[in-house]
Amino acid sequence: PNIIFVKPDGTELNVNVNEGVSVMEAGRDANLGIEGTCGGCLSCATCHVIVDADWFAKTGAPSEDEEDMLDLAFGLTETSRLGCQLTMSAELDGIRLTIPDDM
Ligand code: FES
Repeated sequence: PNIIFVKPDGTELNVNVNEGVSVMEAGRDANLGIEGTCGGCLSCATCHVIVDADWFAKTGAPSEDEEDMLDLAFGLTETSRLGCQLTMSAELDGIRLTIPDDM
């Protein structure tokens, strides 16, 4: 599946990943400023991404634990998610994600 990352400066990058790869891993490996410091175990929030409103129904809302960690993220929005908790699947092909400014 494809991910469209929108960088803080507004430019877009299309990244193709295998199913099962997390958005955090995809963004980290593409050097997009997504750090994923904790490696995906829900204890950092450096993998914060903003899901396009149109896609939020498909990704679903964050879990309670994820929400607690998101509270520590800068620039939190209504459609914020932690990238390590979003696993890519055919269903999410073409998803648009914005990388917050001050990561
Ligand atoms: Fe640390 Fe996602 S990588 S919370």
